[in-house]
Amino acid sequence: MPDQLANEIRATLAAARSQFEYLTDLGFAEQKAAAPAGPAVQNADAAIPGSETLDAIFNELGDCQRCALGASRTKLVYGVGNPNARLVFVGEAPGREEDLQGEPFVGEAGQLLDRILQAMGLHRDDVYLCNLLKCRPPNNRDPQPDEVATCEAFLLRQIAAIRPQVIVGLGRFAVHSLLKTNAPISKLRGEWQSYQGIPLMPTYHPAYLLRNPEGKRDVWDDMKQVLRRLQTDGEGL
Ligand code: URA
Ligand code: URA
Repeated sequence: MPDQLANEIRATLAAARSQFEYLTDLGFAEQKAAAPAGPAVQNADAAIPGSETLDAIFNELGDCQRCALGASRTKLVYGVGNPNARLVFVGEAPGREEDLQGEPFVGEAGQLLDRILQAMGLHRDDVYLCNLLKCRPPNNRDPQPDEVATCEAFLLRQIAAIRPQVIVGLGRFAVHSLLKTNAPISKLRGEWQSYQGIPLMPTYHPAYLLRNPEGKRDVWDDMKQVLRRLQTDGEGL
C-alpha cells in the first residue's frame, strides 16, 4: 500500500535523523551512524537450558548483607535489560540515583550511556547493564577488595546465565578488577581482552566522559569495534 510505504519511509528517515542528532550531541557529528544492531543482539543460544536463571541468582542475593555495604545502601542494584543479551556492560557500582531507584545507570552518567547505546543503534532493553558491585559505597568511595571479591562471585553467575558474546568494561575500576591488572585504562581501552573466556572491550566510563568529553571519540572507536565483533560473530545466526 502506498500509504504504508510512505509511512515506513518517514519512520526510517526520522530514525536516521534522530541517530544523527545523538551522534552530533556526542561530538561525533562527522561520523556515520552505525548500522542498527537491534535484531542481531539476541543470544542465539538463549534457549539452551542448563544454567541458573538471572531471577534465581537475584532471589539468592535477597536482602544481601554479605559485606558491609549492605548496611548503608538504600536499594540493591542487580542489573537490567535483556536476559538473553549478546552484549553486557559492566560498570563499577551504583551511584546516588541508582541506590535510590534500584536500577543501574539512571543518573547523569547513565543518560550519556543511553546516548552511546542509541548511537550504536541499540536501546538499554537490547543489552544488559550491571555493575561489579551491587550496592553503593558510601559517598561513592572506591570499593574495598573484600567487597569486590564477595560481589564478583554473583556477577560471574549473572554472566554465566546470560552468556553474552561481548562484554564492555566501563572505567578504570571495573576493568582493573575484572582483568586483575593495574595497567592504565588509557592503554587498556580499545584492545580486546578476555573475561571468563568472553571477549571484553575496556573503555572509558561515561562519568569520566562527562568530565573529559574529548574521550568520547575513543569510546566511539571502541563501540565500533564492539559492533563489528557482534556483526561478524553473529553472521548466519
Ligand atoms: N556508575 C556506575 O559505574 N554504575 C552505575 O550504575 C552508575 C554510575
Ligand atoms: N579514570 C577512570 O577512573 N575511569 C575512566 O574511565 C577513565 C579514567
